Amino acid sequence: MTQQITLALSKGRIFEETLPLLEAAAIQVLEDPEKSRKLILATSRPEVRVVLVRATDVPTYVQYGGADIGVAGKDSLIEHGGQGLFRPLDLQIAKCRVSVAVRADFDYAAAVRQGARLRVATKYTSIARDFFAGKGVHVDLIKLYGSMELAPLTGLADAIVDLVSTGNTLKANHLVEVEQIMDISSHLVVNQAALKLKQAPLKRIIDAFAGAIPRG
Ligand code: PRP
Repeated sequence: MTQQITLALSKGRIFEETLPLLEAAAIQVLEDPEKSRKLILATSRPEVRVVLVRATDVPTYVQYGGADIGVAGKDSLIEHGGQGLFRPLDLQIAKCRVSVAVRADFDYAAAVRQGARLRVATKYTSIARDFFAGKGVHVDLIKLYGSMELAPLTGLADAIVDLVSTGNTLKANHLVEVEQIMDISSHLVVNQAALKLKQAPLKRIIDAFAGAIPRG
């Protein structure tokens, strides 16, 4: 009997940069998520389907078996906690970093040195909490779900902790990157029960991905 495999991906860079890895596993996605509202996409292999979820939801889908396998950013994995997930590969795709950014006229060095309380807006509360705790800086964390760049511009926060790739978004909003917290790339995550029950088809995909990881 053919076993059904469900792969969780998020739209955008992770989806685009996973396509060559899927090609290496002889899997072509048959629909373009940018042109369709469908959330379940068929592939050239009848037993493999792709489900489109929010980037932060990929670890949750895979943890609870809504998907057998997924591609998740290290940022999302840290915030999720990683429970119930087997994490066999760093895919070296969708690379970026998590950084601290402030308004160009904000004296970050002084604020950190004086031990003042820093108001930090972010979607990445675990990463931000650990980073500032490690520096011994007191922070008031303000949880946001997007458009973090607005927070220092409107007076909601002194600083943000956000993903930076080209730096264009910060620049367009007159913010400066003052500290890099960590490098980010996307990882393959696998449901632990599925790894046992669907071992052969999952191993084929994991091995094909491993052989196609971009170098450098
Ligand atoms: C991320 C991040 C920044 C932007 C940085 O958003 O939140 O806004 O990318 O990229 P840049 O340095 O190349 O300008 P993303 O597009 O992942 O979507 P989001 O707003 O949903 O987080």
